[in-house]
Amino acid sequence: MAKVATRMRGLQQSALGAMTVRCQELGALNLAQGLSQVPPPASLLAEGAREFETVGHSYSQPEGLAVFREAVAGKLKRSSGLSVEPTTQVLATVGATGALMATLTALLDPGDGVVLFEPFYSYYLSSLQVLNLRPEPVRLTGPGFRIAEESLRAAITERTRAMIVCTPNNPTGRRLTAAELKIVSAVAEEHDLLVITDEVYEDIYFGPDPHLAAATVGGLAERTVTLGSLGKSFSVPGWRLGYACGPERLIGAIRIAADSLVVCAPAPLQALGARALNLDDDYYRGFRAMYDRKRRLLAEGFAAAGLSPNEPEGAYYLFVDCSRMGVPSGVAAAERLLENGLVGTVPGEAFYLNPPDRPYVRACFSVPDDVLAEAVDRLASGDFLHG
Ligand SMILES: Cc1ncc(COP(=O)(O)O)c(C=O)c1O
Repeated sequence: MAKVATRMRGLQQSALGAMTVRCQELGALNLAQGLSQVPPPASLLAEGAREFETVGHSYSQPEGLAVFREAVAGKLKRSSGLSVEPTTQVLATVGATGALMATLTALLDPGDGVVLFEPFYSYYLSSLQVLNLRPEPVRLTGPGFRIAEESLRAAITERTRAMIVCTPNNPTGRRLTAAELKIVSAVAEEHDLLVITDEVYEDIYFGPDPHLAAATVGGLAERTVTLGSLGKSFSVPGWRLGYACGPERLIGAIRIAADSLVVCAPAPLQALGARALNLDDDYYRGFRAMYDRKRRLLAEGFAAAGLSPNEPEGAYYLFVDCSRMGVPSGVAAAERLLENGLVGTVPGEAFYLNPPDRPYVRACFSVPDDVLAEAVDRLASGDFLHG
């Protein structure tokens, strides 16, 4: 019988997808997966519908349409001051996931070590496993989840070749500070490491300070690949449209890997994506205000349930410490929320290689207002503190 590759051992459907299936079976509200369930900008859909007949429907060149790459470069410059040259330093990809896979494929060899800051977005781990790369976790402890220089240094081994950072962070909602990024920069320089920075939530933050792109700090520009996604910023994750930006030599290699993996990013959507990236500040302001409101609403629900929601600085998740439930794990906490309240969340364990120090669950607030209101009702009226 045809065999399954060894690298697939231990890889299963993600805990996120599994909870979505569980919610469907039980008829529960799904706050588990980050599905960006808010409407995309109406103008974008209307213009897209008008133009769809006339945009090109064949492949684009592997690096993507010029109009898309120029729009990415313009957007990054406006939102965080990050400077990239559109013709040589920007690559259109199949979502940020496609950008990550192409980057890991192009720049690392099997067995290379990659530092992950725990808790981390679970796809990092599965991507490393698929490519036979070695995860090297660095534990960040709540509620601050700050990068400390000593623990980062202690995690570096002879095999370490790269680090993955994520800001604003999924699942913690933290935005890395300049001080933390300087630590990343210093350690990366000292050990000649590649830095991959996942900034898919760059447009979702709460507070006056603009997004701080890792590649604008210290000496990071020369060794950093920045990943972005239109899925989060314009609520179109199904378009599978993202990008990778960075030094020309690295992007050149990633382009070849991406070409071998998938040929190109969806070409007709790149043309529409360019329009989205050129939306004005009003759009982004309204977008952030909408998420700020949803964030507060869901936090009130968890507080009413007697739990301790965090206050995320960005992204669209609460990472809730459920210690008051007296449960042994995030798995048990998520199960109680599901059984007693029909509210689906992701157990914190999904974001850790080693067991977390507290029973966390992650709850996504990128859901329609009526779902959010119902979730808040269920959280406020259920008994979650007793077994
Ligand atoms: C941190 C992070 N990176 C990447 C992705 C995936 O982005 P895309 O849909 O563009 O592949 C997600 C989606 O939830 C995410 O949370």
